[in-house]
Amino acid sequence: MKGIMFNLLEEVISSQHDEETWDTVLAAAGADGAYTSLGSYPDDEFMRLVDIAAQMLDRTAYDTLRWLGRRGLPLLAERYPGFFQPHASAEAFVLTVNGIIHPEVRKLLPRAGVPEFGYEPGSNGDLRLGYRSPRKLCALAEGFIEGAADLYGEHVDLHQSTCMHRGDERCVLELRFHR
Ligand code: HEM
Repeated sequence: MKGIMFNLLEEVISSQHDEETWDTVLAAAGADGAYTSLGSYPDDEFMRLVDIAAQMLDRTAYDTLRWLGRRGLPLLAERYPGFFQPHASAEAFVLTVNGIIHPEVRKLLPRAGVPEFGYEPGSNGDLRLGYRSPRKLCALAEGFIEGAADLYGEHVDLHQSTCMHRGDERCVLELRFHR
């Protein structure tokens, strides 16, 4: 996992709670917290930090990842405005993640392990987003999508009709955006 994701976790915990909370999470995980955005660190270490933060904040790991995604996306928008500016809606933005944004991310951050998304039309105009990744971070994907809706002044109704955590071969996120 790239250091930028650890940086995002630090920034979200420190701004929504405080820096002491982040320091306590690091100490409990036995981590030194020196993550550079370009560096690569073990996925296990990221999950350990998420699990410890979840316990400290009295929420599930799923909720913590979703919260990280929702609060973290505006920080990515500050850092990489060029991925957001061309789009007038959250859906238009989300449609570029697999073909444009993540491929660009892999050029900017060598060895970035990004997921694979597939797009299909769902029922009643919904967008169906297929998600596959050995890291099984569909909760983070949900949060990023909610963060994108916030950023474009929209709402999103979101549910997962299949999920790798329930034994399915991939996750499917059913999305409906509205203003
Ligand atoms: C709604 C939009 C987005 C979604 C749903 C999304 C989803 C995800 C997910 C779920 C991961 C975790 C890795 C995995 O699942 O295997 C990830 C990783 C990542 N994404 Fe995205 N992403 C979005 C937008 C962006 C944007 C705008 C950036 C801008 C730079 C970005 C940069 C990254 C980076 C750097 C990683 C980490 C790669 C690594 O640690 O090796 N993503 N993304």
